Amino acid sequence: MENTVVVGAQFGDEGKAKITDLLAENADVIIRYQGGSNAGHTVVYNNKKYKFHLIPSGILYENKICFLGAGVVIKPDDFKKELDELMTEGIPEERFKKALKINPLAHITMPWHTEIDGYSENSLGANKIGTTKKGIGPTYTDKYARIGFRVEDLFNEETLKTKLDVILPQKNKQLEKIYSLKTYTMDEALEICRKYREIFAPYVCFEWQKVLDDAKRNKTILFEGAQGVLLDIDYGTYPYVTSSNPVGGGAAVGASMGPLTIKEVIGVFKAYITRVGEGPFVTELTDETGKKIQDIGAEFGATTGRPRRCGWFDAVIAKYSVLVGGISSVALTKLDVFDTFSEIKLCTAYKNRLTGEVTEYYPTNVYTHKDFEPVYETFKGWMTSTSDIKEFDKLPKEAKIYLKRLEEVMGASIKIVSTGADRTQTMFIK
Ligand code: GDP
Ligand code: IMO
Ligand code: MG
Repeated sequence: MENTVVVGAQFGDEGKAKITDLLAENADVIIRYQGGSNAGHTVVYNNKKYKFHLIPSGILYENKICFLGAGVVIKPDDFKKELDELMTEGIPEERFKKALKINPLAHITMPWHTEIDGYSENSLGANKIGTTKKGIGPTYTDKYARIGFRVEDLFNEETLKTKLDVILPQKNKQLEKIYSLKTYTMDEALEICRKYREIFAPYVCFEWQKVLDDAKRNKTILFEGAQGVLLDIDYGTYPYVTSSNPVGGGAAVGASMGPLTIKEVIGVFKAYITRVGEGPFVTELTDETGKKIQDIGAEFGATTGRPRRCGWFDAVIAKYSVLVGGISSVALTKLDVFDTFSEIKLCTAYKNRLTGEVTEYYPTNVYTHKDFEPVYETFKGWMTSTSDIKEFDKLPKEAKIYLKRLEEVMGASIKIVSTGADRTQTMFIK
């Protein structure tokens, strides 16, 4: 395998973790490049379900290096909780100590970030984003405002005090005057940071430049994305987005490797679309069909448990995602969810209800999305189980017709088809 990025190509939860897990077998180093514990990544292996939020799922294998890249934001308590849960699931502590590495440049979600996230959501009322309330937006906000805390800061008491001296008074002013939230004394903040230092100490990799230099020269690297292109801060359905860059280009920055290290960008799409949280969704189905997809696809969030909104595959979004996500090939998941559908629809264009104009290109001003209705093509379903099929040639002819058309409208070829949550329920297309 060549150095590959796995990118979510819709609104997140496309089954990236399953695809990452499959590809990780042939990688030496797995680097998560953005996002934080807002992600919920599920891997099913040997009839056991593992849930990841921050830690790369590559940790399921022995002898891989798993990095939390510089572009990630880490909520220390969530990191600790995830470690404990994975250890309870049977992954040995020794494996984490050997394999798991945190880039010291990664930013930390401080307690006030989570509190501000909660406050902002409540104050937006009907216009809320529907965030995971993991403090993601406020952590990235402070990173870009140059008042964030990085993992490395925790390990130098002098740096920490200098930064707190500057940052804490302004943060407290904000917390008190704008948000009416609890403020922090210097001693409290230092104590919190010392606790965080203890959590990170076994995993922070100060020799990251050496390790990544060796990886770049001698090893196969898998870049693991979180969220999805339509949640990207620049290219997603702004403002209903997350605060990082899940697009393929985000890997070049967040994993400290630069663009030329990347040879392939696999976009993961579901055979339909889901979205959790608020924001526009042109092909959303609020009827029985949407409910059927939700039930069969078990579409409930892995992080927050919220029901995921469901709709038909949207090729306007997909084509856009291939372009801005830098996607070079496609992994299509959850085809099996359509096994009992006699009819499947595919949105190939949007029609503007006001002007009658039809477009195949994604309208980036999401406030206009209410004016668009999907233009559908209808496909005959295959009405038979695909979950045990292991070769593409053995798929029912109706499924192949649907997949062929998806490739045409997306402008990218499908390399992997998934028909079940398990590692084994996968077909590679040559
Ligand atoms: P991620 O965030 O993109 O990694 O995706 P999630 O793990 O949040 O959600 C995808 C869900 O679909 C998980 O429960 C997976 O176990 C499951 N899944 C992945 N691929 C397939 C598939 O091909 N068929 C079915 N039925 N489930 C799948
Ligand atoms: P994975 O990696 C689906 C959504 C939230 C909300 C918006 C902003 O599992 O695909 P945030 O907490 O990031 O500020 O929330 O983004 N969101 C996700 N939706 N999958 C995810 O991750 C998500 N991470 C964030 O629901 O709409
Ligand atoms: Mg998820």
